[in-house]
Amino acid sequence: MNIQSMKPEHYEHLMELWSSFPGNTLTGADSLEGFTLFLERNGAYCFTAFESDEIVGSVMAGEDSRRGYIYHLAVKKEMHRSGTGKALMNRTETALRNAGIEKIHLLIISNNPAIEFYKKAGWHPRDDIKVMSKVLRGDRYMGTGKS
Ligand SMILES: CC(C)(COP(=O)(O)OP(=O)(O)OC[C@H]1O[C@@H](n2cnc3c(N)ncnc32)[C@H](O)[C@@H]1OP(=O)(O)O)[C@@H](O)C(=O)NCCC(=O)NCCS
Repeated sequence: MNIQSMKPEHYEHLMELWSSFPGNTLTGADSLEGFTLFLERNGAYCFTAFESDEIVGSVMAGEDSRRGYIYHLAVKKEMHRSGTGKALMNRTETALRNAGIEKIHLLIISNNPAIEFYKKAGWHPRDDIKVMSKVLRGDRYMGTGKS
């Protein structure tokens, strides 16, 4: 397994990977246009994992100079428990830390087994915060739980 910087040409295979997890939310931000714009702004924190020539994992992260945010950590099912998720998170955390970011956040559905993965990686669940959302363009995702 090797990890490379994420590139626009990875998009199609990444969408296949993300779509393979039913609970994984894909929104308008995951259009090719949205994906490309995100990489233009945050490419330094986004990584793709390859096994031979096949895309088997991903992590995207962005920052606003105060906090970092993690998106689309995913590893192909056949590769779970192979250390790929940990290696991807280490890459993006190192890049964010080197950019001066002190703290990172992520949104996760409350029954996602990946919570245990994150706990092992040093994350802690927050019971003191409630997430609030407001749709600014269209109403497609209002009330569906989509982030
Ligand atoms: C979360 C995910 C990326 C983990 O990837 P992975 O490659 O299987 O993780 P790793 O092999 O690097 O695991 C690192 C550690 O976490 C543990 N771990 C991984 N998944 C776990 C789980 N579901 N429950 C408990 N522990 C878990 C591993 O055993 C390992 O422990 P160790 O360091 O003591 O050996 C993967 O399960 C996945 O793609 N899930 C579906 C997508 C998803 O829900 N992503 C999160 C969206 S917020």
